[in-house]
Amino acid sequence: MSVKDLVVQYINNEKLVHAVDHVSFSCKENESVGIAGESGCGKSTFGLAILRSLQKNAMVSGQIIFNDMPILDMTDSEFSEKIRWKQISMIFQGAMNSLDPVFTIKKQFEEILKKHNFNGDHQKAISEIISSVGLSDSILAKYPHEISGGMKQRVIIAMALILKPKMVIADEPTTALDVLVQAQIMVLLKKLKKDGLSIVIISHDLGILSEIVEKIGIMYAGQIVEFGNLADVYNNPQHPYTIALLDSIPKIDESVQKTPLKGNPPSLIDPPSGCRFYDRCPHAMEKCKKDPPKIETSSGFVMCWLYS
Ligand SMILES: Nc1ncnc2c1ncn2[C@@H]1O[C@H](COP(=O)(O)OP(=O)(O)OP(=O)(O)O)[C@@H](O)[C@H]1O
Ligand code: SF4
Ligand SMILES: [Mg+2]
Repeated sequence: MSVKDLVVQYINNEKLVHAVDHVSFSCKENESVGIAGESGCGKSTFGLAILRSLQKNAMVSGQIIFNDMPILDMTDSEFSEKIRWKQISMIFQGAMNSLDPVFTIKKQFEEILKKHNFNGDHQKAISEIISSVGLSDSILAKYPHEISGGMKQRVIIAMALILKPKMVIADEPTTALDVLVQAQIMVLLKKLKKDGLSIVIISHDLGILSEIVEKIGIMYAGQIVEFGNLADVYNNPQHPYTIALLDSIPKIDESVQKTPLKGNPPSLIDPPSGCRFYDRCPHAMEKCKKDPPKIETSSGFVMCWLYS
């Protein structure tokens, strides 16, 4: 998948929210890419835009090429018929809390198969996918309130995988789970990746991402400000925001107290021109009031005046 200059704006009370601003990145077959950034920076909007599942008040432009197909140019029906859930699916943020309480798990799987006109054997497809996420068929007769959070999240992952997509966008797949269940879900995602799935994983948790991704994009106020191989970005971060983000992770042997990053990201309703990190950056210079250049790094890019 290659995403070029993706822009998403929401119209809200006659104002434009610039939620995703000229984002570009690529993800190869069987690769995992992480998107990290603080709350409200546009991570979910970005994922939903790829699946063309944004709310009606969103306007999208740019290009997304998936397996040589320009998916933003497809009609809605073509996209639903060829791509959504069959080629690209999504583990929606907080989805485990949205399982319908009045239907059994089996019924909810069947709804997905019906919606996507699945012609094969429903029972077989459901049993296979349930077992691939480490659950047994006995869960199918249960209602959501009868199963644990970890089981619910496995069900949600199985639902995303039931039509055997090539790529899954996982939006905060471990948030709100306790650490042991988080670890189990990560083991599961790693296994799925080993079996050939490409995963775009969205998380505010850099530790979680470091376990699974090969590449990472750091998002700030709607923009990807740094992108590259995981090792490069973690061991040699270039953008002052990436440096601050990595520095905020507590280390077990550290005696010095962390200094939190001061201030807040700018409003996405009327973001300032120039670098959006300007107000919080310890290296801010006069020229940073102009849009920062995109500088090539060893495995990706950084958007910052420090390197030009
Ligand atoms: N339907 C909508 N209409 C208007 N604004 C929206 C809409 N959905 C999201 N936004 C705004 O777009 C921006 C990006 O939101 P988004 O949910 O993509 O952020 P996020 O990075 O996923 O945050 P979090 O980490 O809290 O999940 C936020 O300012 C949010 O308030
Ligand atoms: S462009 Fe300037 S203000 Fe922005 S991160 Fe780089 S040095 Fe800081
Ligand atoms: Mg989100």
